[in-house]
Amino acid sequence: MAPALVDPPTEIERSDINYTKSGTGEYKVPFSGPKAYSKELELKGTDKHAGSSYPNYLPTWPSKTYPPLEPFEHYDHGKDADASFKNLFGADAKVADLTANIGAEVHGVQLSKLNQQGKDELARFVAEKKVVAFRDQDFADLPIQEALDFGGYFGRHHIHPTSGGPEGHPEIHLVHRGTDDTTARDFFEERTNSITWHSDVTYEKQPPGTTFLYLLDGPLAGGDTLFANQAAAYRRLSPEFQKRLHGLKAVHSGIEQAENSRNRGGIVRREPVTSVHPLVRTHPVTGEKALFVNPQFTRRIIGYKKEESDFLLNFLYDHIAKGQDFQARVKWAPKTVVVWDNRVTAHSALLDWDDGARRHLARITPQAERPYETPFE
Ligand SMILES: [Fe+2]
Repeated sequence: MAPALVDPPTEIERSDINYTKSGTGEYKVPFSGPKAYSKELELKGTDKHAGSSYPNYLPTWPSKTYPPLEPFEHYDHGKDADASFKNLFGADAKVADLTANIGAEVHGVQLSKLNQQGKDELARFVAEKKVVAFRDQDFADLPIQEALDFGGYFGRHHIHPTSGGPEGHPEIHLVHRGTDDTTARDFFEERTNSITWHSDVTYEKQPPGTTFLYLLDGPLAGGDTLFANQAAAYRRLSPEFQKRLHGLKAVHSGIEQAENSRNRGGIVRREPVTSVHPLVRTHPVTGEKALFVNPQFTRRIIGYKKEESDFLLNFLYDHIAKGQDFQARVKWAPKTVVVWDNRVTAHSALLDWDDGARRHLARITPQAERPYETPFE
């Protein structure tokens, strides 16, 4: 029998406390946006750097706005997967673990050619491995709508409130730093590192699950992505501590991201929202429990005083950030698609290259179920 759910979180329970403004966790300002963008330079390139390999994916920031997201029923196809993964991995597949505790790298599988059973198994395999790098993919070369049709199998497409998207495809979230962009240098005038651990858009009521990010252009070296296994981070804690975390809920806020975008001349496509989620969530396919907090978007534990909330959240952020033994560093290469399960991982970009190379990636972000927790046992 499926375990009973514990109090699905609803609204912020104490309206007299401003849980978003008074919390810990810092929205660390990212390093991109329309102010730093020159379409002409992106198309033509420079003496040192070629023009964009995928001009159809160059960002646009249309002013169109969207109504609040409506709830929807998510069905996770990983539940239907054959655990032998025989439809996902044919005779040519080469699968290797990236580390002992998180991640895999796959050669010899073409994601775009998977049948329905293969996609079901993909959802489950990614939930188990947390993050998987698929090499030699044709994803970026497909018409954008075909890539979206593939991703739409895994959930309703999320339209990001502040990011640029390719013309006519707001469902694609772009990560883009243009040729000769100097924001990296500017960033390190102010900061000592670029680490921004987070899971994507956790302020939404139904944050993403199986998530796809594919490389269009990137530096020869640098721009790797760090991933942390949030289920392993949970398991590492003592049973007594795990027990204490159960039942706690925290506010996740999209307000700072929207404010930052406005301040930088960017867009806000949807009015920012906050959501209350459990600190420990259960994965609908694997049944695993995972920490579900991150310093970019989690602000405050409901019912705790500010100092108490800061103390506990900062401990958890530190625990996740230092957990190199449950982290992996994914190297990008042309034609790579990285798939992660956003429910049970955190990730961070790295801003470590400074040779003016363009970095351009596209994300397909299917939303999943509302986070829920099952009782501590
Ligand atoms: Fe992200």
